[in-house]
Amino acid sequence: MQATISYIKEKTGNFIPDIALVLGSGLGEFTKNLDGITLPYGDIPGFKTSTVKGHNGSLFFTTLFDKKIVVMQGRLHFYEGYELSDITYPVKIFKMLGVKTLILTNAAGSLREDFKPSDLMLISDHINFTCKNPLIGKNDDTLGERFPDMSNIYTDSLRDLAKKCAAESEIELKEGVYVMTTGPSYETPAEVKMFGILGGSAVGMSTVPEAIVSNYLGLKTIGISLITNYASGISKEKLSHNEVVEVGRIATKKFTKLINAIINKIEV
Ligand code: HPA
Repeated sequence: MQATISYIKEKTGNFIPDIALVLGSGLGEFTKNLDGITLPYGDIPGFKTSTVKGHNGSLFFTTLFDKKIVVMQGRLHFYEGYELSDITYPVKIFKMLGVKTLILTNAAGSLREDFKPSDLMLISDHINFTCKNPLIGKNDDTLGERFPDMSNIYTDSLRDLAKKCAAESEIELKEGVYVMTTGPSYETPAEVKMFGILGGSAVGMSTVPEAIVSNYLGLKTIGISLITNYASGISKEKLSHNEVVEVGRIATKKFTKLINAIINKIEV
């Protein structure tokens, strides 16, 4: 970790970010017109590189509304074959760099008819259906406690802020429970039905490990899903990754506007 931190500090001129933002599938355009410093994951000691189409795989350091931000352009997924400790390594690094707030975004399939493709969903809570936990292994007591409470992962005050920002920007923001599966196969209709009965609103293949570690480290956390499709069985259409990327492309403007509004209003 010290090697990672030293490398980042050297390359960014001791940049101390307040906020970390993780961009999900098809949402990589967020940084398009921003000036900043890009560090490809492959160059950062301790970082693994992402293999997914539509994910860039770099850290981007920039300043927005007087707030210093580190953006993860492309995240790692469990289905790529990484350990959960690899996936969540950047979150630990963010904490050590000085980050106080983590904004997680993703693409997800809707488990309910009233959450439509291109809707944005604020994550109120999650169900970890991978049944694997990123905190398994020897605990580093300097980072967090062995049995951390998870009753308020997605910080209430930030959820209130997101709702306020959405209302002011006239963006409809749904709110619900995110279910994570390992992927990479999409769900069966029977699984989708079960997730709905269990209280899920949307299903995806990311975010939960990062959110668990973020909460463990004491970071404030906010999660927003872009609904890219109805999950299997809710609509009769077959699912394709291209559809996920395409809806991401269409909804990018709305998403960017909301994230900008939230970053603008967050107190650091
Ligand atoms: N299922 C799982 N992950 C997803 C989906 C889905 O329907 N859409 C986008 N990511």
